Amino acid sequence: METHIVISLILFLILTKSINSIAFDGSKSEGWDSTHKEPENHIASILSYGNGMKEEMEADEWEMVQKKGTQFVVNDQPFYVNGFNTYWLMVFAADESTRGKVTEVFKHASSVGMSVCRTWAFNDGQWRALQKSPSLYDEDVFKALDFVVSEAKKYKIRLILSLVNNWEAYGGKAQYVKWGNAAGFNFTSDDDFFSHPTLRAYYKAHVKTVLNRVNSFTNITYKEDPTIFAWELMNEPRCTSDSSGDTLQEWIKEMAFYVKSIDPKHLLEIGVEGFYGPSTPQRVQLNPNSYAQQVGTDFIRNHQVLGVDFASVHMYPDSWISQSIADSHLPFIKSWMESHIEDAEKYLEMPVIFAEFGVSAKDPGYNSSYRDNLINTVYKTILNSTKKGGSGAGSLVWQLFPDGTDYMDDGYAIILSKSPSTSSMISLQSTRLDLFNSLCSKRCHWGCKKKNVFQKVLYHDEL
Ligand SMILES: *[C@@H]1O[C@H](CO)[C@@H](O)[C@H](O)[C@H]1NC(C)=O
Ligand SMILES: *[C@@H]1O[C@H](CO)[C@@H](O)[C@H](O)[C@H]1NC(C)=O
Ligand SMILES: *[C@@H]1O[C@H](CO)[C@@H](O)[C@H](O)[C@H]1NC(C)=O
Ligand SMILES: *[C@@H]1O[C@H](CO)[C@@H](O)[C@H](O)[C@H]1NC(C)=O
Repeated sequence: METHIVISLILFLILTKSINSIAFDGSKSEGWDSTHKEPENHIASILSYGNGMKEEMEADEWEMVQKKGTQFVVNDQPFYVNGFNTYWLMVFAADESTRGKVTEVFKHASSVGMSVCRTWAFNDGQWRALQKSPSLYDEDVFKALDFVVSEAKKYKIRLILSLVNNWEAYGGKAQYVKWGNAAGFNFTSDDDFFSHPTLRAYYKAHVKTVLNRVNSFTNITYKEDPTIFAWELMNEPRCTSDSSGDTLQEWIKEMAFYVKSIDPKHLLEIGVEGFYGPSTPQRVQLNPNSYAQQVGTDFIRNHQVLGVDFASVHMYPDSWISQSIADSHLPFIKSWMESHIEDAEKYLEMPVIFAEFGVSAKDPGYNSSYRDNLINTVYKTILNSTKKGGSGAGSLVWQLFPDGTDYMDDGYAIILSKSPSTSSMISLQSTRLDLFNSLCSKRCHWGCKKKNVFQKVLYHDEL
């Protein structure tokens, strides 16, 4: 008991110090002008305080992330997320020559305070496949996924693991259909993945295998491992063959129930992009284009399925609105986020994660200050919700790469060492969310009393 008081006191002093720096910083950093050198040093020092604080608080506990109303919680503290995507971790870990890149990306991400990574727990029938054919696994690749999970924990990063792709990269639903045809069926549509009992059974077998996997590095079964933040049913499911949404809805119901029957402890999300569908005609005008309501997904209805714990939303104005950078992109991001946050609060009563967003350096009109502006818009909108303890639970940038992996870049890669202004923006967001997360908890009663003071200084640049 007494040690806690002493630790709390020390933390309070440390925090007070960090906040002074933030207030100083925040007042100057409104525009995220990349010419600022000074704030980076401040941020670095804030971060090292922040990390020290985190270690003290978490050294003895690495608990599952849970959901409480519209928030994520860990150890009774809120858990607002600043995170990233790096989809290829398992494949890189499968080869000795590229394995180090996995460690590198976790190291870089944690140095800017990021706490969640979304990545693929599938590679179906392709080069370096995890699942070579239905229920036949490459043990070396599974060990590579084990490595990813155990390495993430070393850097205090939690994982959202996606279980299949809608797209053909890494196999996806098209590969499941090919497997079905190889077994004697006559499928003509990739959407048979959602409806045919045999293909559903293949997918379920994969889910079961991954969730019951015992990690060869840690001996912890995946379904028991707090390093895993959540399961994702599918990356960007779309079922264009049934725009009513009924086919996908049935699939989500069956699979959400199935995941929970094996693993009731972890959180679950679907992986949809967030398009409004037929169940909410008054919302469809918020979609980025009129095609979006015809792809068989339906944001509100999909997330009302039993077993789905939180919502996912993606944001790609450069692929959804116009490829060349346009003024309309940033207001779209803001209203897309605000409407989904409102839905999550009013209708779904769950947190929402903006699980992919970014901009391609290949877009006409692209420059790095535009990218920083876009990221900053996302971060500010999250903070607006965080301040109120709202549903806007975090964002995961698409995508973080370590040095020397340019050949994998689809245009969206952010390499921290080459992007100092982006790095300091990410750091500041992490620090702010960390401070908010530590405000109210059983362990830190002082935090609640100081809440108003904290809020003022935390968001000083917006006053
Ligand atoms: C699949 O289609 C081919 C050619 O159309 C046909 O010969 C075959 O009998 C069909 N197989 C099944 C299982 O329906
Ligand atoms: C995992 O379990 C095996 C068999 O029980 C044991 O030999 C090994 O030392 C364990 N490894 C770890 C990291 O706990
Ligand atoms: C970057 O791109 C944005 C949007 O196209 C433009 O408004 C801005 O002037 C550009 N900035 C620089 C430094 O080129
Ligand atoms: C945050 O909220 C304030 C006050 O409600 C508003 O003026 C501002 O535009 C919001 N910022 C973003 C990025 O949503």
